[in-house]
Amino acid sequence: MATIRNKETGHRNFRAALSQIAGLMVYEVTRSLPTEQTTVQTPIMAARCTLIKGAITIVPVLRAGLGMIDGILEVMPEARVGHLGLARDEKTLEPHAYLNKLPRELDAGPVILVDPMLATGGSASAAISMLRQAGASDIRMICLVAAPEGIDRLQKDHPDVTIYAAALDECLNEKGYIIPGLGDAGDRMYGTII
Ligand code: PRP
Ligand code: URA
Repeated sequence: MATIRNKETGHRNFRAALSQIAGLMVYEVTRSLPTEQTTVQTPIMAARCTLIKGAITIVPVLRAGLGMIDGILEVMPEARVGHLGLARDEKTLEPHAYLNKLPRELDAGPVILVDPMLATGGSASAAISMLRQAGASDIRMICLVAAPEGIDRLQKDHPDVTIYAAALDECLNEKGYIIPGLGDAGDRMYGTII
């Protein structure tokens, strides 16, 4: 977190650290996923093993959520990936949806929404509504930096969605940026800061 918060970190190292932290967060999420028992034959005898139940779908919110995908897929290589594109209007802070590409049968297992930043919560709330409309029933969210305002908004709009955050920050500034936060995650990841 020190690496991605540090303003001296360039986009290459920012991307690498963001992806790595996202992979580490998977361990927290899988702790509560539904499981089922199976039996496999070892070279010696039958052994009881535990599997995650159902098909897992990871859904990054573009752009910044894309940077979390590689780290997550390293830990969960079987997961399906859907994509939602949402951009926050800089003045109104309202999200605008520009892409909705989700796999079929989203209710076949847990759906994990990923976006590094939970600020006002507008984007995440809209993304969860899009997931529900597409049929998802078990939805969780991984973010890296959350503001209390965003958590309150999600708990109000979608009380059944569990949020896993690497850090809970203080508040938002007048432009809707998280304080202390890390700045604009998408711009820092792709080197598009003017
Ligand atoms: C950022 C971030 C979230 C959103 C959070 O994306 O990745 O999606 O803002 O803000 P909110 O909680 O107030 O909605 P942004 O809209 O800047 O798009 P980008 O990833 O393409 O830069
Ligand atoms: N989006 C970001 O990328 N950063 C913030 O601090 C708030 C919204």
